[in-house]
Amino acid sequence: MEKENGKAVHCVVLAYPAQGHINPMIQFSKRLLHEGVKVTLVTTLFYGKSLENFPPSMSFETISDGFDNGRHGEGLKLTVYNEVFAQRGSQTLSEVLEKCAISGYPVDCIIYDSFMPWALDVAKKFGIAGASYLTQNMPVNSVYYHVHIGKLRAPLTEDEILIPMLPKLQHRDMPSFFLSYQEDPAFLEMLVEQFSNIHEADWVLCNAFYELEKEVIDWTTKIWPKFRTIGPSIPSMFLDKRLKDDEEYGVTQFKSEECMDWLDKKAKGSVLYVSFGSLVPLDEEQIREVAYGLRDSGRYFLWVVRASEEAKLPKDFAKNSEKGLVVTWCSQLKVLSHEAVGCFVTHCGWNSTLEALSLGVPVIAVPQWSDQATNAKYLVDVWKVGIRPVVDEKKIMRKEALEDCIKELMESDKGKEIRINAVKLKNLAIEAVSEGGSSNKNIIEFVNSLKG
Ligand code: UDX
Repeated sequence: MEKENGKAVHCVVLAYPAQGHINPMIQFSKRLLHEGVKVTLVTTLFYGKSLENFPPSMSFETISDGFDNGRHGEGLKLTVYNEVFAQRGSQTLSEVLEKCAISGYPVDCIIYDSFMPWALDVAKKFGIAGASYLTQNMPVNSVYYHVHIGKLRAPLTEDEILIPMLPKLQHRDMPSFFLSYQEDPAFLEMLVEQFSNIHEADWVLCNAFYELEKEVIDWTTKIWPKFRTIGPSIPSMFLDKRLKDDEEYGVTQFKSEECMDWLDKKAKGSVLYVSFGSLVPLDEEQIREVAYGLRDSGRYFLWVVRASEEAKLPKDFAKNSEKGLVVTWCSQLKVLSHEAVGCFVTHCGWNSTLEALSLGVPVIAVPQWSDQATNAKYLVDVWKVGIRPVVDEKKIMRKEALEDCIKELMESDKGKEIRINAVKLKNLAIEAVSEGGSSNKNIIEFVNSLKG
């Protein structure tokens, strides 16, 4: 995609240092590369060390968050980190932009993770465009936005939360930071801060697709006219298969292929895939209930238990049995796209949610933290592609609750309907990023606007 001077449009894609944030931005960057954009991916120096396998056509630069040797010290408060990051990040991002200009490739736009709203000030200082990239789902963003505009408060006082174009939300459907607000307000404040300067952004891009949540997207576009959905930002090889250069890029150091051979030997739709994401630790009690629930379900299961969580597994639980395999990591997309997988027991992180939707895999929704409960609400009640087990007063899903859901999903008529819905959504996700699809058109419109 050339500008009038014959040079390619150049975007800096600034990723927040967390796997659930950088992976979708890498995937979005690949869509930009496909449209002829020059991309420079930028993240923090410390986080950048853990990355490997970049698409060769992408440049890579780092900035400082002020903690180049890691965020040592458990006591480091999020507010302190964010303040230091905003200050050092702005300085060092400016240096990256200067370096690009000197090398003959001045930057036309900074596409920044919305967790770093200060990047827009840097874009303004350089007189270039700034595009906020929302890594979370639009309904969740809408909840936080309503706090920003004073229409919703934490701690919650009402039993049911009413937000335009969203289903009625109960406390258990709300992002967890509302419920933990009194112990620690920092997370909610950080998420609300994303919207502090959103009206000044040249574009607001969201990793979702129009057909998934039309009402809230139409509503949002009225508030932010430059709001566009550009997702799902997952590798093209699992969606439209239009992009060439499509190996796995990003954080891949925990690859485990053992499970693919294991899956190959299982019948179609017979395996439960279980994962609680890359970040949040589970209570030992919860791990025990999941372990026994899976074992006693009598089904095949493939369960990702991160190395840091393995010691919490019950001592009498076999990690490799006739029915089950426990691994510390896997290529989740490859697993979800394997025909042996019939159900995904998930924590409902937004990436896992989009991946399940895009690959047509029905879910058992076991949200733990952050946006996950709201994603679970949508998976179950809006998109109708999953079931949510009950939890007890300690918020633990007991083994019986898990077993009941597995039975319902794998054996009942409701389970059949859920599977049909999952396939419909998969097709919509593929269409969205295909030639002429809603997200594809939005990406082209965005790139054209940068040609000047
Ligand atoms: C975090 C938050 O928990 C989540 O709520 C928010 O929406 C994004 O940031 P995380 O725990 O990383 O998410 O979950 P998720 O968003 O689902 O991302 C996990 C990623 O890791 C997915 O892309 C998934 O495919 C990948 N993964 C996970 C693997 O490749 N292998 C695994 O074994 C597990």
